[in-house]
Amino acid sequence: MRIVLGVGGGIAAYKVASLLRLFTEAGHDVTVIPTEAATRFVGVATWEALSGHPVSNSVFDEVHTVNHVRLGHEAELIVVAPATADLLARAATGQANDLLSNTLLMAGGCPVLMAPAMHTEMWQHPATQANVETLRSRGITVLEPASGRLTGSDSGPGRLPEPEAIFEAALALAGAPSVPATPPLSASDALLASPRGPLAGLTVTISAGGTREPLDPVRFLGNRSSGKQGVALAAAARDAGAKVRLLAAHMDVPPPAGVNVVKVETALELRKAALHAAADSDVIIMAAAVADFRPADVSGTKIKKRDDVADPVISLVRNPDILRELVETRDAASRRQLIVGFAAETGDADGDVLDYAAAKLRRKACDLLVVNHVGQDKVFGEDTNSVVILSRTGSEPQEASGSKSDVAAAVIDRISAELSRVVPPA
Ligand SMILES: Cc1cc2nc3c(=O)[nH]c(=O)nc-3n(C[C@H](O)[C@H](O)[C@H](O)COP(=O)(O)O)c2cc1C
Repeated sequence: MRIVLGVGGGIAAYKVASLLRLFTEAGHDVTVIPTEAATRFVGVATWEALSGHPVSNSVFDEVHTVNHVRLGHEAELIVVAPATADLLARAATGQANDLLSNTLLMAGGCPVLMAPAMHTEMWQHPATQANVETLRSRGITVLEPASGRLTGSDSGPGRLPEPEAIFEAALALAGAPSVPATPPLSASDALLASPRGPLAGLTVTISAGGTREPLDPVRFLGNRSSGKQGVALAAAARDAGAKVRLLAAHMDVPPPAGVNVVKVETALELRKAALHAAADSDVIIMAAAVADFRPADVSGTKIKKRDDVADPVISLVRNPDILRELVETRDAASRRQLIVGFAAETGDADGDVLDYAAAKLRRKACDLLVVNHVGQDKVFGEDTNSVVILSRTGSEPQEASGSKSDVAAAVIDRISAELSRVVPPA
């Protein structure tokens, strides 16, 4: 694929050398267009050597090839990293004062991904947020910056996402159009999210409710999940300052205000939405009750009751393990992301609930596992819950009980505590 890699004049420009390597090693043909400011951070020689192409930032170089027109037309994907506040503003207002901004205007229908990086104040400034909103409304994918240590001693949202995360998001954008859209969080959602709080500036994706696996056009295999716990988690994460994306399977309750809702029906739809959303999520909480199995065959017409044929037998096939896939994808990309699973367990003669839960945590390798004990009429649909939070680090299991909002607050507190322990170095 022909990729244009625009580099803005931010301190994180050095990290983009790794992103360039990821693209070229995956066999892509990359032309780098640094801004003039970017060349003060990383020299043209580095980009030329790593890309194998000449590098320029002026429309007046190689005029006979009309570089800005050619690059814009030929690009199959444009990635801008770091996207400075200045570049976002120039792109949003359609300026064309260097080779990169000209190329962005010439891009036509090719997918464009911008990965911002700047100080938190610059990122949260209404001017920058309005520019981001404008770009997103035009179909440009603007990633949320990661949170953590910034250039100086300060920390907060504004870090460039890791090169692997940008790489994956960019390729998904260019090559996986079948993935259900997980719309970017809108400015109004951001306004509803508290600007303060332990999760301020973080993007949290939460799945909730129960999946439904179709048998025929009118029947499905479902489960008793009401979605109440997932909805309470979404509200608690929002109140803690996060931007929240709720992957909503079937729920008996409405989603809370101020969160972005992506509706899904089946486990396979949830899988696609979750993997897609993972690209810009700092925290993923998988609280949905996902069917382990789905019918092997889905009838296109209603299955009829007939006296002349035997009653149908439903064969099932296994659904993918979404939680495990999320963990594997994160680890493969060395991405900083906290992943939380939920487990509804019952004890039996071979072990109690916590034995089974601990084994599940080892299998899934997520960071936290929130375990609730299900039995007859326990938990599903009720307004109260009682859970134990297990951590992969092996720290003491933590109990939480009360209303589902109380339990959600305890889970969000625990997540905040885990995150504050893993703030990355600069
Ligand atoms: C040391 C240093 C670090 C900077 N880091 C950033 C940054 O991370 N993000 C940003 O938006 N601007 C940053 N700037 C400011 C930009 O370099 C400046 O706005 C420049 O005009 C951007 O030009 P460009 O958008 O054409 O690349 C930094 C400036 C300096 C001197």
